[in-house]
Parts: sequence; C-alpha cells; structure tokens
Amino acid sequence: MKPIEAYVKSIPDFPEPGIIFRDVTSVLQDADGLRLAVDLMQEKLAGIEFDLIVGPESRGFIFGVPIAYNLHKPFIPIRKKGKLPRETVSIQYDLEYGTAELEIHRDAIQKGQRVVIIDDLMATGGTNEAMISLIEGLGGIVVKTVFLMELAGLKGRDRLQGYDVDSVLIYP
Ligand code: PRP
Ligand code: ADE
Repeated sequence: MKPIEAYVKSIPDFPEPGIIFRDVTSVLQDADGLRLAVDLMQEKLAGIEFDLIVGPESRGFIFGVPIAYNLHKPFIPIRKKGKLPRETVSIQYDLEYGTAELEIHRDAIQKGQRVVIIDDLMATGGTNEAMISLIEGLGGIVVKTVFLMELAGLKGRDRLQGYDVDSVLIYP
C-alpha cells in the first residue's frame, strides 16, 4: 500500500491565487486511500478516553462518522448557519479565504463530557478555535483534535495552545 501522502493531490491557485489546495477527494476516491486515512486518524485516539466525536460540515463529517462508528461513539455535527433544525448556539469566524458561521445543537453536549474533534485539515486553525468555543460554551471538555492534514505554515497551532492537536500529515 502507498503512504498516505501519495493519495493527496495538491492544486495550486484553488480556489484563489496563492492558495495550494490539498484535495481530500483524491484520498477518498481510492478505496485504499480512504481506509488508510480513517485508520491513521483513528490510531491517534489510542488511549484517549472520550464520550463523543464532533466534526464540522462538510469535510469533517467524512472522517468523523467512520471513526465514531468504529469506536461506537456518538457523532455530533457542527453545521454551517441555518441547517440545524433544533435550538442552536452559533459562532462567526475567519477562514484562510473568507468568513463563516457555525452552529451546534444546544442539547448535543452535556456539561463535563469529553469531546474529540475530527476534521480533514487545519489551515489557520480558525474553524477548530470556533468549534472549541462552541463545545466549551456548552460545558464540554475538548480532549483532542485529530486532522488528516495540517498546513503548518499558517500557524494554526498558535491559536490552539494548551490543546492536544494531532495531524497525520503535516505540510510546511
Ligand atoms: C475547510 C476544512 C476545515 C477548515 C480549515 O472547511 O475542511 O474545516 O476549512 O480551515 P481553517 O483551519 O483555516 O479554519 P471549509 O470551511 O472550507 O468547508 P467544507 O468542509 O464544507 O469545504
Ligand atoms: N481549507 C482551507 N485551506 C485549505 C487548503 N489550502 N487546502 C484544502 N482545504 C483547505
């Protein structure tokens, strides 16, 4: 089997000039790539005690759900504004390109529950920081975040100091 980095295609100047887009769909469209990505992310949770997995729309769902299924944990979606049908809490934040607003159901996390965040990629860390705010606002404890890919040059870790952040692949 090939190493995981061999499955990731990098597309220069998408979606804007100057951005190198690390395309998760090139991993997913290969059965071995998909399995390897899920397995390597899941391995990062060995020995971690937690109650539930949270993942953001849309690429966070891709890996959060199979890992939650494999480990028999609940999966809590964080969605873009206006998609969740019950009472929500929301937060606005900045992206590598643009801004966004995310929401979580207010009843999705109980005070003191231990939460793992799963996402495909960390760029600026803004999405993760926003998710941590939502989770902590509901009384959850973020015990770890696992990414498939991290764009280290954007220094997302600087925004996440004090949190356990782990990535399968780190790009400079
Ligand atoms: C992407 C990616 C991460 C986030 C990373 O999602 O899946 O969630 O950006 O960027 P950050 O570290 O700078 O916050 P995006 O908001 O583009 O949504 P998508 O998954 O629906 O494509
Ligand atoms: N999300 C934010 N920045 C990204 C990038 N450079 N590649 C893939 N997804 C991203």
